[in-house]
Amino acid sequence: MSAILEATGLVKHFAMGSGLFARAAGVVKAVDGVSFAVGAGESHAIVGESGCGKSTVARLVLRLIEPTAGAVRLEGRDLLALAPAELRAARRHIQIVFQDPYGSLNPRMTVGQMLTEPLMLHEVVAPARRHERVAELLRVVGLQPDSAQRYPHEFSGGQRQRLAVARALAAEPRVIVCDEPVSALDVSIQAQILNLLADLQQRLGLAYVIISHDLAVVHHIATSVGVMYLGRFVESGPSDAVFERPKHPYTQALLSSVPVPEPGRRSRRIVLQGDVPSPLAPPSGCHFHPRCAHAIARCREEAPLAEAKADGGTVACHRWRELEAWNTAVTAGQGNRAALARLQAAFTRPFLPGESPPAVSVA
Ligand SMILES: Nc1ncnc2c1ncn2[C@@H]1O[C@H](COP(=O)(O)OP(=O)(O)O)[C@@H](O)[C@H]1O
Ligand code: SF4
Ligand SMILES: [Mg+2]
Repeated sequence: MSAILEATGLVKHFAMGSGLFARAAGVVKAVDGVSFAVGAGESHAIVGESGCGKSTVARLVLRLIEPTAGAVRLEGRDLLALAPAELRAARRHIQIVFQDPYGSLNPRMTVGQMLTEPLMLHEVVAPARRHERVAELLRVVGLQPDSAQRYPHEFSGGQRQRLAVARALAAEPRVIVCDEPVSALDVSIQAQILNLLADLQQRLGLAYVIISHDLAVVHHIATSVGVMYLGRFVESGPSDAVFERPKHPYTQALLSSVPVPEPGRRSRRIVLQGDVPSPLAPPSGCHFHPRCAHAIARCREEAPLAEAKADGGTVACHRWRELEAWNTAVTAGQGNRAALARLQAAFTRPFLPGESPPAVSVA
């Protein structure tokens, strides 16, 4: 994959307090070494509980704030090295959709004015064609062309999020960062917006960075995932590896709280104790240790490094291999039961003509 957007070793520390007490108040390590890449037509999801640093990553990637360390490359160009004029030009290619469709749209502008603004700023189409392009943008996000004369308050939450998507699309970006794009919407509307994003991605080859505290939201759209905890990715990699074969206890806990739609598949729910600790005073060693059911003395003393997994991606846990071996032993037991169920099913219905008996191996 050639990456359109690449973030490498992003760090953002916020100094807390001011004046005399600045030093005493300490530093919030909101983002503490985050790397990922996303190509055309792909979505990188960043998941984790509230306060773990997701929105700070979004702001860093757009260069709305300056990083303490790290690099952001857009189509190979270092965004952080660009002069203001070049940065303005590059911004055309990376747009954002925020969580709150109420706060993020200017209430004093008509929809038409709001969509014309990026067309003018980036000289996307000739002035004579702007009117037509606004109608096109509205159509693409499933709204009536006559919406252009109306104000944001005349629309529902879901429609406003469609307007926010239309505004992001106006600049003809390569990348859209979606920060909790459906969290403020009714569940019934969430799927419509996610389907719209998926459809636009397919038609336009967009790259997405999709940020959410809700794994169910990103499950279907993500090609790769970073699971964030207190400023770091504790696990990352291709979506199917992270979602189907999670290795980190935190990922396993997050996933166990997502409903399993497949009949007959029961998941063991892991209840996460307590809240995310303050990033102002993160726990020693592995940041997750106070909430981890598998923590041992080493976890309190030594921060785990990210290690490569066989199926791609990384995991940062001292005990992941040991826990994996244990989980494999448990699922092998379930495998026996599945083989037995197939065998029983084979004997409860006659074989169809030409059908051979199922191969059943009991490992
Ligand atoms: N401008 C800022 N100054 C100080 N602390 C900040 C600032 N922005 C974010 N933080 C802190 O950084 C941490 C991560 O915040 P954020 O990126 O908004 O998390 P998330 O989006 O995952 O909920 C939080 O503890 C938050 O209070
Ligand atoms: S390093 Fe220790 S505390 Fe951290 S996730 Fe692994 S087992 Fe749990
Ligand atoms: Mg946020």
